Amino acid sequence: MNIVVLTGAGISAESGLATFRDLGGIWSQVNLEEVATPEAFAADPERVQSFYNARRAQLHEVEPNAAHHALVRLEREWRKGSFLLVTQNVDDLHDRAGSQALLHMHGELRRVRCLACGTDDRWEGPVTSESACPSCRTQGRLRPHVVWFGETPLHMEQIEAALEGCDLFIAIGTSAQVWPAAGFVRMLPRRAWGIEINPERSAMASSFAEGRRGPATRELPLLVEELLA
Ligand code: APR
Repeated sequence: MNIVVLTGAGISAESGLATFRDLGGIWSQVNLEEVATPEAFAADPERVQSFYNARRAQLHEVEPNAAHHALVRLEREWRKGSFLLVTQNVDDLHDRAGSQALLHMHGELRRVRCLACGTDDRWEGPVTSESACPSCRTQGRLRPHVVWFGETPLHMEQIEAALEGCDLFIAIGTSAQVWPAAGFVRMLPRRAWGIEINPERSAMASSFAEGRRGPATRELPLLVEELLA
């Protein structure tokens, strides 16, 4: 039985990172048009850099939670097929928890991309107009390695191949309002079983066979226990 897991901001909520669309979420504090589009970056790169610099700095204040660790346990102990974790999150909590079969389809706060040479590299700390590319040394040509609205998510071929062979799809902590991730549940083979873990019904809840209505730190360890029993 091949498992594909999709996570969204909700899995990091209990670690203290704000989600985007819950009450008081990031997009109620900041206009996404001003910080999360290529046009915004072209118009005011400093504003965009400072938005991501602040979110990158916040990573030092948070830790992976029981839900992140439950996914690492499932990945390590699952013997009945393949396992792939696809995250929409740009935080590093899955990485720090120890997930290996992990694809960041919206990029990562802890990486920068050079507009001069095209490489992406690990990056701690703030990015400024003086920051030099670790690969080509060009200064002032770095952008967050984050997929903005209107841009193409990363690793889509690998994700689509995994969905074609998927028997169990588990979506955790995503409102299913941003495509293509929202449509993954509709790309599954007919035999696949879908489970959604979310205190609320997501926009795609009706496409899932099961909805486990509760916080990820409670529902996910229980589900992993069941799967590994
Ligand atoms: N456990 C599980 N789910 C939770 C929890 C929790 N403790 N708390 C909140 N949630 C759920 C909310 O009910 C909501 O459905 O997490 C979801 C968060 O939804 P969004 O804030 O829309 O986040 P997400 O779905 O990841 O957004 C997708 O939108 O802004 C872009 O690129 C950004 O990756 C992001 C994408």
